[in-house]
Amino acid sequence: MRAHEAGALHAEGYGGPPIWLPYPTDVTELLPQLWPCTARRDDAGRLVVGGVDMVTLAREWGTAAYVIDEEDFRARARAFRDAFATAFPGGADVYYAGKAFLCTEVARWVQQEGLCLDVCTGGELAVAIRAGFPGERITLHGNNKTPASCGWRWSTGSVGSSWTLRRDRPDRRDRRRDGCRSPSDDPGHGGVEAHTHEFIATGHEDQKFGFSLADGVARAAADAILARPKTLRLLGFHSHIGSQIFDTTGFELAARRLVGLHADVVNASGADLPEIDLGGGYGIAYTSQHRPLAPRDLAEQLAGILEREFKAIGCGDGTGAPRVSIEPGRAIAGPAGITLYEVGTIKDVALGEGFSRRYVSVDGGMSDNIRPALYEADYSVTLASRDSQAAPRLSRVVGRHCESGDIVVLDEYLPDDLALGDLLAVPGTGAYCRSMSNQYNHTPRPPVIAVRDGVARVLVRRETIDDLLALDVG
Ligand SMILES: Cc1ncc(COP(=O)(O)O)c(C=O)c1O
Repeated sequence: MRAHEAGALHAEGYGGPPIWLPYPTDVTELLPQLWPCTARRDDAGRLVVGGVDMVTLAREWGTAAYVIDEEDFRARARAFRDAFATAFPGGADVYYAGKAFLCTEVARWVQQEGLCLDVCTGGELAVAIRAGFPGERITLHGNNKTPASCGWRWSTGSVGSSWTLRRDRPDRRDRRRDGCRSPSDDPGHGGVEAHTHEFIATGHEDQKFGFSLADGVARAAADAILARPKTLRLLGFHSHIGSQIFDTTGFELAARRLVGLHADVVNASGADLPEIDLGGGYGIAYTSQHRPLAPRDLAEQLAGILEREFKAIGCGDGTGAPRVSIEPGRAIAGPAGITLYEVGTIKDVALGEGFSRRYVSVDGGMSDNIRPALYEADYSVTLASRDSQAAPRLSRVVGRHCESGDIVVLDEYLPDDLALGDLLAVPGTGAYCRSMSNQYNHTPRPPVIAVRDGVARVLVRRETIDDLLALDVG
């Protein structure tokens, strides 16, 4: 890497593309692994998703806008459901992780496709309840479930911390029994370090989530739950080792440790622990460098891993083995979503030695997608409003916020004839974009628009300046 006086961000790819980004033969090609299943170009080269062309959609609803392909979302949910039903003949539960993206209509899609729902705050739970999602199919996770935000209806979610256990106050017990059922009263994480960005790895010991296995804390938490049979029921153990993971090595280690803990507790206490939950974290393709596992391969590999681990604790024929659940979020919502932006300014910067960098500013940025700034996440982008035969030009798509780290797409080839008013589309933004969005610089958040069979409908409307000012009571 070359040193650059302006800092590491400038040094990356200084004067050239990253090695994983090939020079395209067709700069407007849609790589199928990056786009929702219904995405195509019409005769004029306009991007069409869910049978709706993005130029018409942008004209009607404005930009920036999140667009979600309902057919794609539902197909991915079904693919997980069917793959796990096939690979685990005794049954397995797939919990959609609502933190990826949740609104009432999406909760309904999840329910209609036969999945369960994982929420992690009282707010997400409120969305699920408003959507009429059945409480017995909801689980609630989190390392700090505040009584105020959760209204104590989290009673049967994962425990997540010993302080949460201490909050089991007698005066709340009746309400706790009314709450949602969970698959996993979770005392434990697996002590596994997932190979992903530090901020989205959650299974190693030195972090805030769950109970440590190494020093017996998880075991002690399990014993504490078993000691209170009138108010708590230990259903099993849960781990979530991180996100954007592309192979099952980490899950194998986590499964070994969880099954080991399960066996220890069952053997010592005689308790019936009917469930085990391996969490989510299955990676998706944000760029051509990513190679996600298909749900069928993932399910088969996890089934093989668990079969071996259960065998090792004497549940070889499946008798006595707990029911398995998983919690994919990104892998269902991520590829179903795109973000549409309009180009506002274009600036070419000479870097010396014949190199230059093109900055393309759009009408969104780190308020609608914080992931590049937060995790150095890579994205792709394409011209959405027309065809172009112009030469590919390495470009950096940036937002409109007052931060030089306000980057939407660090490196991508866009047509050299890109112009103000052109529309750009970023794929893979269905997960952790709207749900992590913010109003930095008093920027109203974009709408979420579902497209299906040629029809666009707003699921979450665009925020307005009045919405923002409504909170300002001074
Ligand atoms: C407990 C738990 N389950 C599931 C998920 C979903 O992860 P992903 O969207 O990467 O599948 C997360 C994400 O942080 C999580 O913390």
